[in-house]
Amino acid sequence: MNIYNAIKEGSKILKKKNIKFSNLDCEVLLAKVLRKQRKYLILNLDKPLNKKNLEIFKDLINQRSNGKPIAYLTKKKDFWNSEFITEEGVLIPRPDTEVLIEATIELFKNKDYANVLDIGVGTGCIILSILEEKPCFYGIGIDVSSKSISLSKLNAKKLNLENRVKFIKTDVDNFCHGKYDLVVSNPPYINSNKIRYLEKDVKNFEPKLALDGGLDGTFKILKIIEKASTLLKCNGKLILEIGYDQKNKIVSLLKKRGFYINNIIKDYAKNDRCVISTKVK
Ligand SMILES: C[S@@+](CC[C@H](N)C(=O)[O-])C[C@H]1O[C@@H](n2cnc3c(N)ncnc32)[C@H](O)[C@@H]1O
Repeated sequence: MNIYNAIKEGSKILKKKNIKFSNLDCEVLLAKVLRKQRKYLILNLDKPLNKKNLEIFKDLINQRSNGKPIAYLTKKKDFWNSEFITEEGVLIPRPDTEVLIEATIELFKNKDYANVLDIGVGTGCIILSILEEKPCFYGIGIDVSSKSISLSKLNAKKLNLENRVKFIKTDVDNFCHGKYDLVVSNPPYINSNKIRYLEKDVKNFEPKLALDGGLDGTFKILKIIEKASTLLKCNGKLILEIGYDQKNKIVSLLKKRGFYINNIIKDYAKNDRCVISTKVK
């Protein structure tokens, strides 16, 4: 079978299972099998695939048809300016989260130094993207998941940032080390009862620990606000990702705990996604 037919057949299988970008997914997976870029496929549609590569491709198509996300199959995901290693058991970085990076860069554009804490690092995508942009910032990333901590360490090494960041496996409740100019977090904020309505790829494959925000979705956010109120320096910033319908609740939680609300930023779909606040008391 040649490249053209492999993509056509693979795409047919994915389409039958209602996979949205069936053709693109096939191309990405075949490019991975052949260790080439996608454009190689387009320029070599007539090239035959050997038996071994065809078998590997079929297996990936089978996994994708069962809903496994592309980023878990290719083990990588682009986020901000870098490619992050991804792994099952750790949340895949989302484009919406890039709003937090943009906000941080704008807020700290005149600051050369800052000590940053990222709560719930996952792949490390937030803190590592900030450190890449700001060469004199230092940081700590914490997560209760040991898989997240090992993956963040790997990503830090890949991006040559290991000297400016430490990763610690701990529950946010038990962490009480240092004082910070900036706390960032994309916490689990999905209402427990709504997880079952998420897309199949997400609910069946991504870790519940990274998604589940308790009965009203704000259980973990509240923990982070409380932790930030003790670990931030006076005038330090807290930059939080929130659910599209959580703005009012989070603003009220923040104000009650002595935070001034600087700004609420929308994501690319125009949903309220990021709250920037300052510890004033
Ligand atoms: C929504 S994910 C965010 C991952 C990453 N920061 C990102 O934006 O892609 C939330 C992360 O919080 C971690 N987490 C959940 N509960 C936690 C807790 N009690 N203490 C520390 N981390 C926790 C999860 O393991 C997960 O990695």
